[in-house]
Amino acid sequence: MRASALVCFVAVSACIACIAHGGNFYQDTEMTWGQGRGKVVDGGRGLDLSLDRASGSGFQSKDEYLFGKIEMQMKLVPGNSAGTVTTLYLSSQGDAHDEIDLEFLGNVSGEPYTLHTNVFTRGRGQREQQFRLWFDPTADFHTYSVVWNPRHVIFAVDGTPVRDFANREARGVAFPRTQPMRVYASLWNADDWATQGGRVKADWARAPFVASFRGFSADACVWSGGRSQCPVGTMEEAGGGGGWWNQQLSDASYRRMRWVQRKFMIYNYCTDAKRFPQGRGVPAECRLRR
Ligand SMILES: *[C@@H]1O[C@H](CO)[C@@H](O)[C@H](O)[C@H]1NC(C)=O
Repeated sequence: MRASALVCFVAVSACIACIAHGGNFYQDTEMTWGQGRGKVVDGGRGLDLSLDRASGSGFQSKDEYLFGKIEMQMKLVPGNSAGTVTTLYLSSQGDAHDEIDLEFLGNVSGEPYTLHTNVFTRGRGQREQQFRLWFDPTADFHTYSVVWNPRHVIFAVDGTPVRDFANREARGVAFPRTQPMRVYASLWNADDWATQGGRVKADWARAPFVASFRGFSADACVWSGGRSQCPVGTMEEAGGGGGWWNQQLSDASYRRMRWVQRKFMIYNYCTDAKRFPQGRGVPAECRLRR
């Protein structure tokens, strides 16, 4: 009796954990394009996307979310990945959509990938920031995450914050706060622009190109029936506790982010002198200190 009661308890709590945190690509995602070029592997624990001359491939989360912490482990196309782009992004529907982007622009063998990030609010993007990575993203899986709460969108790589898009609605900057978003990932051919400005094309002799995903987790408020349902306790950790709902950068993590930006950021729209000569027209979110 006692043994079976214990087994039952363990099964139930494991299942709760699995609803809250995902981790099974069969359960949590669906292929959206690529006609068999995307494959769930390893009993649901992994997913591989592939790209050949005819098509790339992609998948999306089954659920839509309004706020959450989204994590994915990714291992990018190795070797000569020129012309390929691997993406992980959140997006809502429609013209005035919100979007939070991570795009990994491939390169020829031995040359570095570019991590391209952007934030769209009400259909308007043009907030590009690009980074080098401080490791080879093709040698192993690394964790890419987005914390999206009512006050911040924080991009992190292996837990190190690289970008913080803070809510500046008080200064007239739109913030993604009302439209539920789905998680999307894809691998596609962008050799007209991706690598060294489009000068280097994909080498189709090396196709199919493959990018691998695992460890998808959405600790998130699921949108259903016109409202957002958050995991129990999400909003209760007041005072900047450990939960993602209240997450913002501590002084230490802010300093760490600034250090990464100084060392690894290769493009920042805020400081683009061609776009904003003498700083004219710099968007409000760029002018504000933390
Ligand atoms: C590819 O490598 C070249 C040379 O190191 C570099 O200039 C470029 O930014 C890299 N990334 C892309 C996406 O072109």
